[in-house]
Amino acid sequence: MLLLLFLLNVKTGFSAEISVFVQTGASIQLDIQTQELPEFDDFSWKHDRSKIIVKYLSTSKVERLHASYKDRVDFNNKTFSLTLKNMQKTDSGLYRAITAAESDTNIVTYKVSVIDTVEAPVLTVNSSWFDGNSCTVNFTCRAHDLILNSMYSGKCSQKEVQSNGNNNLTLNCSQKSIICNHSNPVSWKEDRKYITQLCVIKGI
Ligand SMILES: *[C@@H]1O[C@H](CO)[C@@H](O)[C@H](O)[C@H]1NC(C)=O
Ligand SMILES: *[C@@H]1O[C@H](CO)[C@@H](O)[C@H](O)[C@H]1NC(C)=O
Ligand SMILES: *[C@@H]1O[C@H](CO)[C@@H](O)[C@H](O)[C@H]1NC(C)=O
Ligand SMILES: *[C@@H]1O[C@H](CO)[C@@H](O)[C@H](O)[C@H]1NC(C)=O
Ligand SMILES: *[C@@H]1O[C@H](CO)[C@@H](O)[C@H](O)[C@H]1NC(C)=O
Ligand SMILES: *[C@@H]1O[C@H](CO)[C@@H](O)[C@H](O)[C@H]1NC(C)=O
Repeated sequence: MLLLLFLLNVKTGFSAEISVFVQTGASIQLDIQTQELPEFDDFSWKHDRSKIIVKYLSTSKVERLHASYKDRVDFNNKTFSLTLKNMQKTDSGLYRAITAAESDTNIVTYKVSVIDTVEAPVLTVNSSWFDGNSCTVNFTCRAHDLILNSMYSGKCSQKEVQSNGNNNLTLNCSQKSIICNHSNPVSWKEDRKYITQLCVIKGI
């Protein structure tokens, strides 16, 4: 019943949720994604259901900032965009721009995920041998909970794994090197081995 009232109360126009990722400690700017706002008494940016980060009153042009955001928020009173600085994981969640008049209008909704940079992957060679005309390498690349076992012979047998979260472990194999790349939406790190250092033709 409460949910229904909420849905009736907030006129959700054609505004899908915009998903954005931000690195821990970084800043993010949230725009209203529209040229024109409906007429309003006040405009606010809200975090999740309850916290009003900033409220801007149209007649008095007064801006009210939530105490806990005072030192790390910039509100632009011309574009209505909100910049949040030094984002922490607890800042993840939904951010909405809402105008209030006779009823509320949801202008835009962001789903913000604050995540750390990835750990560096570790590429381990199990065995390598020269079979007469090419170098063959059995190796493993690990990063966090992702493991990729593959065999190189000019190219790699298995090329990538994905976690159920946002992390990928990807191989880039060329004549020169094997590169293992650990990535998430905000960062990537690699470990690499050079083929010339793996396959030494013994006795030469
Ligand atoms: C916007 O903010 C600036 C700086 O705080 C202020 O001088 C100006 O009057 C404000 N303009 C409006 C339209 O609220
Ligand atoms: C390679 O060695 C690692 C440990 O050094 C091991 O976990 C992995 O299973 C090995 N891979 C293969 C294909 O034998
Ligand atoms: C290399 O790996 C393949 C398959 O992963 C396996 O069949 C083969 O025995 C391995 N060779 C060596 C020398 O470890
Ligand atoms: C693989 O690495 C090479 C050289 O480092 C680069 O030019 C190429 O774009 C990479 N390919 C992929 C799919 O990442
Ligand atoms: C690693 O993966 C990321 C994300 O897919 C990509 O942007 C980056 O260029 C890759 N790095 C290399 C060296 O291929
Ligand atoms: C991980 O792989 C998926 C599927 O290929 C891709 O949609 C996603 O953009 C990749 N993520 C990163 C961080 O490279």
